[in-house]
Amino acid sequence: MRKYATRLRLLGARRLLRPTPVSAVLMILASTAFLFAQTIRQRSHDVKNGERIYKSGCITCHGASGTGAPQTLTEFKRPDTFPDFTRCGQTTPEPNSAWKDVIVHGGPSRGFSEIMPAFGELLTSDQIDDVIAYLRSLCRNNHWARGELNLPRALITEKAFPEDEEVISTAINTRGAPGNTTDIIHEQRFGVHNQIEVDVPIQFQDQSHTWYGGVGDATLGVKREMFSSLRTGSILSLFGGVIVPSGNRSRGFGTGTTTFETFAAFDQLFPTNTFVQLQVGADLPRHTDIAPQTVYWRAALGQSFAGDHGLGRLWSPMVEFVADRDLVDGARTNWNVVPEMQVTISRRQHIRANLGFSQPFTNTRGRQSQVVFYVLWDWADGKLTRGW
Ligand code: HEC
Repeated sequence: MRKYATRLRLLGARRLLRPTPVSAVLMILASTAFLFAQTIRQRSHDVKNGERIYKSGCITCHGASGTGAPQTLTEFKRPDTFPDFTRCGQTTPEPNSAWKDVIVHGGPSRGFSEIMPAFGELLTSDQIDDVIAYLRSLCRNNHWARGELNLPRALITEKAFPEDEEVISTAINTRGAPGNTTDIIHEQRFGVHNQIEVDVPIQFQDQSHTWYGGVGDATLGVKREMFSSLRTGSILSLFGGVIVPSGNRSRGFGTGTTTFETFAAFDQLFPTNTFVQLQVGADLPRHTDIAPQTVYWRAALGQSFAGDHGLGRLWSPMVEFVADRDLVDGARTNWNVVPEMQVTISRRQHIRANLGFSQPFTNTRGRQSQVVFYVLWDWADGKLTRGW
């Protein structure tokens, strides 16, 4: 424990993380992620061999440069999702497993056009890995974060990867006063590293046997990926945003003051598809007389499993440890534990759902247990109605 304590003192985190058993667990997780960030080991693929395969099997449709064969030479009408392998913004969000599924089983395996043939009988698994390595070489800008680092979204902990996503996330009280909150979240990438985020919460509460509903305080922010490496499996992002006082304060739906929010998110993927997502942040209201400053820290620990040798439906059980604390004298730290399961719904894996249960386990008085779930749509991967 000494070693962790010294390290955290260096990070200036000792004041935030009092030595409770739970923070010890969190410290161990964090240290594991930082200290043992392992290399994502892969067989080194033969790009030259991949190029040969591409030229014999793929070039007639995908073209000599990977942008697509001239329309005059191809028989088929291009689907709007037809790939241009030179466009890094299109290709880097796709993990190799998504491409491999399409190459092995053909387009329909991920809800794409049947024009894209299946090569699973013609090419070996290694040959397909080689051709994917060649396709990867067609994106010449290696500053884009790779889709492998786009880890399954946790219910509460925010991830580091910049996303093109719509999420509807609901939390329903299961004890105490009935109530629920639904966050409508829009995330959109811009440039190589950035993402806009808009989050509008809609709340319903039973207050002395009358139901009240309304919009809560909405968040507008920008997340920026600062560092990512597929080799080590790590990605780091910073977020800055404003929470506007759009909620009705007297109903308890808003704080009544503009709040600045900032956080850092660090995610680590291990070669076994185990992952850790860490987030540390603060809410800093303009008027601290009506709403206190708050710090929070969150960790999601999970493991992904996919059928069909890693190409099929993805199941990701996770557990989150979520804490926050008001920066006022005598405040106590609120800890929640959140076991959950994310699963891909559509064949393309661009529609996913997550269901979990948030249970307070410190400072429990007046704090609710909640069922929490979301449905997300990664809209860069195609329309809602496609990919089934
Ligand atoms: C007969 C034409 C044809 C041939 C041959 C062909 N493809 Fe395709 N491929 C397509 C079409 C069309 C699509 C787009 C499908 C869609 O978007 O619905 C596609 C899509 C893809 C995708 C994109 C999947 C995604 O996630 O966007 C990959 C990867 C791919 N092809 C790889 C290959 C490789 C590698 C070869 C050679 C081994 C190959 N293709 C041969 C027509 C072809």
